[in-house]
Amino acid sequence: MTRPLIVAIDGPAAAGKGTLARRLAAELGLPYLDTGLLYRAVGRRVLDREGDPKDAAMAEAEARALHPADLDRADLRSAEAAMAASGVAAVPGVRAALLAFQRSFGQARGAVLDGRDIGTVVFPEAPVKFFVTASPEARARRRWLEQQAGGGTATLAEVEADVRRRDDQDAHRSVAPMLPAADAMLLDTTALDADAAFAAALAQLRARLG
Ligand code: DC
Repeated sequence: MTRPLIVAIDGPAAAGKGTLARRLAAELGLPYLDTGLLYRAVGRRVLDREGDPKDAAMAEAEARALHPADLDRADLRSAEAAMAASGVAAVPGVRAALLAFQRSFGQARGAVLDGRDIGTVVFPEAPVKFFVTASPEARARRRWLEQQAGGGTATLAEVEADVRRRDDQDAHRSVAPMLPAADAMLLDTTALDADAAFAAALAQLRARLG
């Protein structure tokens, strides 16, 4: 019996992981899970209680109380939710609470999952892993353009500072830090648009799977 295919996509904010993951999932006929949304939803629940996302006891309790409807909230994409997500994501009990959900999502029918630790912790045995990066300047510009389109008022410099702060926090936490798995295929999207990134990833994936 062959195992369902898991495609793990990790990397920093605004590197193009989500767009790539969605397109690969559609191409391969696999379900897609944006694992960042889980951390964002936990962060939001802590903010709702006027708590500090780094308060380990509160963050873990909110992760354990997470409900599917929390993932449908309209306020998960804001810069505030992103920073809160990065805060709760450094709490070991939060990561442990979210692990079983991510694994069972993938084990059912296979999946494409994007996040920070999919190839290193959630599915270390995944046959296909990508680590998607781009320069901090390029990522900040993309995020800033997205925010502008949505009516945001933050300056490019503010967005870049946020992106760098979150990278630093995600890469230097003690549990499941963001880092490429030893067997991940690296994809730098600094000079690639979404079509070119998808084409490059698909070629790498086909080569890997033979
Ligand atoms: O992918 P994103 O920007 O929506 O993720 C929000 C935050 O959640 C990110 O800064 C770190 C955390 N995260 C994580 O630690 N592990 C994951 N698998 C996904 C997200």
